[in-house]
This record gives sequence, C-alpha cells and structure tokens, in this order.
Amino acid sequence: MSEALGFDGKVAVITGAGGGLGREHALMMAQRGALVVVNDLGGAVDGTGSDKGAAERVVDEIKEAGGEAVADTNSVATVEGGTAIVQSAIDAFGRIDIVVNNAGILRDKSFHNMTPDLWQPVLDVHLNGAYHVTSAAWPHMREQGYGRIVSTASGAGIFGNFGQANYGAAKMALVGFTRVLAVEGASKNIKANVIAPVARTRMTEDLLGPLADKVGPQFVSPIVTYLAHESCEPTGRVFSVAGGRVAEIFIGEGPGYTDENLSPESIAEHWDEVTNQDGYVVPTQMGDEIGVYLKYLS
Ligand code: NAI
Repeated sequence: MSEALGFDGKVAVITGAGGGLGREHALMMAQRGALVVVNDLGGAVDGTGSDKGAAERVVDEIKEAGGEAVADTNSVATVEGGTAIVQSAIDAFGRIDIVVNNAGILRDKSFHNMTPDLWQPVLDVHLNGAYHVTSAAWPHMREQGYGRIVSTASGAGIFGNFGQANYGAAKMALVGFTRVLAVEGASKNIKANVIAPVARTRMTEDLLGPLADKVGPQFVSPIVTYLAHESCEPTGRVFSVAGGRVAEIFIGEGPGYTDENLSPESIAEHWDEVTNQDGYVVPTQMGDEIGVYLKYLS
C-alpha cells in the first residue's frame, strides 16, 4: 500500500463543485487536508438560473467532516467571475495551488438546429470558463513555482457524439489548452492535465442506461486528486475515467506515406499507408512532431 496522498495547506479552487463530480472532488480533497474554494453558480443543467445554496451546502458538508472550505458563487463564464473566484482563494487562504476546471452546462442540439444561443454559452462556461479561472491563477502559480490544473473534457469532444457540436468543440479545445499550459508551465512546476469522465450525475442520469449503476460520481475523484497532488509527474495528458477504471487517452501519429511527387492520385493509391496505425508515435508537443517530419523527409 503506497503512502496516502495528503494536501496539507494546499489551496484548491474547484469550479462547479456544488453538486455532481465537483462536489465529490471537493469532498475527497478536503478530507485529505486541502483548503477548498467550492465554486458554483447553482443554475440548471442548461446554465439558466442560479442558487447560492448549492456551494454553501457542500461547504457545510466539508466542515461537518472536519475539513476547511469556503463557498464562492461567481460564474466562471466571465473574466470578472474568474478573477473573483481566484480572489476568494487568496482572501480566505492566502494562496492558490490547484485549479479544477469542472463547471459545465449542456445545450444539446443536432448541428443543423444549432443556434448561437445554444453555442455561445456552452463555449463560455467550459472553454472560456477554464481560461478565466486558470488565467487568474496562473500568475500566482508562476510566482510560487508551483501549480496543478485539472480540466474536464469529455469523450463527446475527443471521440464525437451526436447533438453536441458546441459541447464537443469546447471539450476538445480544453485538450489543446492543457497541452499548451503543460509546455509553458514546465519550467515553473505547473502541471496541467485533462480528464474525460463518465459518471451518473444530474447531467447524465437519463442517458446512461444500464451503465448508470456502475458509474457513480465518486469514481472520478481519485484521478483528479492524484493529478492535483504535489507528487503528480504527468503533464499535458488525458485520462478516461469511469466506474473504477482509469486509462490514458493519447493522440498518436502513424508513419504515413512519403512521396516527393505527392499527388491526389498517389494519396488515393497509398491510402492504406497514409492511414496505417502500426508503428505510431505519440508526440508530447509540437516539437516532437517536427522530429517526425524530419525523420521521414530527410
Ligand atoms: P453537474 O451539472 O452536476 O455539475 C456541473 C456544475 O457546474 C453544476 O453544479 C453547475 O451549477 C455548475 N456550473 C454551471 N455553470 C456554471 C458557471 N457558469 N459558473 C460556476 N458553476 C457553474 O454535472 P457533472 O456531470 O457533475 O459535470 C461536471 C463536469 O464533468 C462538466 O464539465 C461536465 O461537462 C463534465 N463531464 C461529465 C460527464 C458525466 O458523465 N457526468 C461526462 C463528461 C464530462
């Protein structure tokens, strides 16, 4: 049995932590000694409305269990909201070490019926929300030479899912966001990773069918807690997690087809080579991919 991963004195902002997955993350990390800002606007699944009680109730739960937490009800969807959320951490605990970008909404519609009022708020909460909160925390993390960022993507974006062009775009964008933060944060001991969970929450309770019983939200928090911990080495990585299983999702590049006289016809003719996945490499940043080009073009 390895040593328990504790968070003594580390300060975590967890967005959307008034229910669902975020609440579980907050409870687990607080139970291990993290000082937690429980952020939640408290609206409906589609992002309408608000309820200041959602964050407050989770703070009460944490305190009853002997932990330390404060509630924050700002929206992640604005620059001011992101700034205020991080300020809550500074005001209450004097620092910020961990950001868990978890707040989310759904406005599903097939693409031919997608309208700006369904598109924009989803991008604003998931993608811009992560930007607003993380960018407010970033200078503190750089200054102290320490930070952990965990963002919440989804298989809907990484793999594709009907009716979720808005959500999928925002979620896959968080992968790109994270990979750049991983590169830029490396010299300051800032690690950034992504999870792609499946769990039974109010967001998914009608969608999971027979899987619902197996995928309680509590199964997602262990990987978030690990990625938020001081001992976390991985950065820029993506982890699928559901119901007690966790696995890396990676983007590989095959050896491809190289031809100095490349033409549409030669591509068509060699399609099997173009798409061959045997012998793939997994670049961890753009520079690695340039290395792949050099190998085949020299
Ligand atoms: P949830 O609806 O229970 O939790 C989302 C929370 O975010 C809510 O408490 C909501 O009030 C809060 N929120 C929404 N807009 C906000 C804003 N502007 N500012 C602050 N808080 C806001 O749903 P769940 O499932 O716990 O979702 C958590 C995250 O996990 C989301 O990002 C979701 O997209 C993601 N996810 C969930 C999956 C699942 O199977 N449950 C699958 C893949 C991703």
